[in-house]
Amino acid sequence: QTPKGSCLEAVKIAIDAGYRHIDGAFVYFNEHEVGQAIREKIAEGKIKREDIFYCGKLWNTCHPPELVRPTLEKTLKILQLDYVDLYIIELPMAFKPGDALYPKDENGKFIYHETDLCATWEALEACKDAGLAKSIGVSNFNRRQLEMIMNKPGLKYKPVSNQVECHPYFTQPKLLEFCRQHDIVIVGYSPLGTSRDESWVNVSSPPLLKDPVLNAIGKKYNKTAAQVALRFNVQRGVVVIPKSFNPQRIRENFQIFDFSLTEKEMKEIEALNKNVRYVELLM
Ligand code: A2P
Repeated sequence: QTPKGSCLEAVKIAIDAGYRHIDGAFVYFNEHEVGQAIREKIAEGKIKREDIFYCGKLWNTCHPPELVRPTLEKTLKILQLDYVDLYIIELPMAFKPGDALYPKDENGKFIYHETDLCATWEALEACKDAGLAKSIGVSNFNRRQLEMIMNKPGLKYKPVSNQVECHPYFTQPKLLEFCRQHDIVIVGYSPLGTSRDESWVNVSSPPLLKDPVLNAIGKKYNKTAAQVALRFNVQRGVVVIPKSFNPQRIRENFQIFDFSLTEKEMKEIEALNKNVRYVELLM
């Protein structure tokens, strides 16, 4: 997804700026660069492995339980690391296993695969027991899918987190409340409203960072709309994973711990919720 080398540079800049949580996936095709950046920073003495929190993801074509551990081992080999801090099921639907990551039939329709998500989860539990993943979680799960895992007979570990789209235009009030009740951390992706790449983003929804309320609040604190959007989520306990390949914006997105929003401002931002996703995941 990224030009060769740009991810390596971005991760090194991010670590220097203070970031420790790195959100990755096999399907981003840059795990080798992420691993190299982490190893270079360890060699420099800037960080230790245990300072980094790396999240990897199980792709849709690897849901059959017997594929889970080999898939995680492949990611670890690419990263050249011994473990990931968090391993999550990227999406609750499975594709036909095989070399094609987006398998399609002759009519261009995705070829799905029947697997039991609970069996996939058990395979993740085994990866945790084997020490290959410190924690396990999910992504893009709704309440019913979370409940299915949590009510599974013989559950050993419940999901520690659920990574979903979350930002001021899509605040996830119900899912957030449910996850709070069950001690599941929400990790918010696209916290800045995405890159608005038409190939996967619903661009009919207006750009988040142009929002007048976010900009006005930012002005008051001498912060940008991006910083206000990130601070909003952090302040209500949602983890954010902003994406940038620009050194200045990477640093900017980390400067959100030296101000706080008032209760009134938090409410104003919450009221921006449009309940419309940028990332529709139509598959
Ligand atoms: P760039 O890489 O040029 O900085 P999200 O995190 O919601 O997926 O958003 C990512 C998009 O937002 C990228 O296109 C990124 O572009 C841009 N971006 C990241 N940080 C900022 C910022 N502080 N201000 C404006 N745009 C940003």
